[in-house]
Amino acid sequence: MLQPSDLETVRESYDRVADAYVELAMGRLEPEPWLRAVLAAFAESVRGLGPVLDVGCGPGTVTAHLTGLGLDASGVDLSPRMVEHARRQYPDLRFSVASATELDLAPASLGGVLGWWSLFNLPREALPGVLAAFAEALVPGGQALVGTHVGEGDIARTEGYGGLPVSWTTHLYRPEELTGMLVDAGLEVVADLRLPAQPPSLRPQVLLAARRPA
Ligand SMILES: C[S@@+](CC[C@H](N)C(=O)[O-])C[C@H]1O[C@@H](n2cnc3c(N)ncnc32)[C@H](O)[C@@H]1O
Repeated sequence: MLQPSDLETVRESYDRVADAYVELAMGRLEPEPWLRAVLAAFAESVRGLGPVLDVGCGPGTVTAHLTGLGLDASGVDLSPRMVEHARRQYPDLRFSVASATELDLAPASLGGVLGWWSLFNLPREALPGVLAAFAEALVPGGQALVGTHVGEGDIARTEGYGGLPVSWTTHLYRPEELTGMLVDAGLEVVADLRLPAQPPSLRPQVLLAARRPA
């Protein structure tokens, strides 16, 4: 069961590394043509269906990219310091502080929702509920896009971006496991992209897009 103290520990850690995350340009999209291709396909699929929420938006890179692709995108993140960076870098966009587990999303209110390398810190047992909330928040035909690290088991991290001390667990997933969770949430998987381990990623990565049936 998710304890408030678990979220607090993760929040404090991301607050501590947020400046380094931005200084090191982590999560930037320029060197990532496959990631940009996925975001372009996602944008094309959900454009006109409603607002898009980037959950775990960090400093707002993907939120801003999707806005540039013509979406009404906003971001939410657990870490206030990440959100400060997002607001500073993209003052015209909307960002707020909240946990993926406490979003209180209105049913059928979103054209798209993302968990872009931001759901792997959730306790394993919390992820199905978060994906179910995503599914319920989508309009029919709307899509969820989830990207994360592939593997088995959990990694206790004590050092984060910039070598700073952190305390969080990275939960690794097999793509089939994540697909199963999206299907259990009531979504249809429409795309499944696997990326091999290659610098700067130490592990393979997966991106899954899943649609709420019409
Ligand atoms: C690896 S960073 C990715 C940030 C951003 N998506 C990007 O690609 O640059 C992970 C982000 O997830 C956020 N995060 C972790 N747990 C979260 C939760 N329970 N709810 C919302 N955001 C969370 C962190 O604060 C951090 O900003």
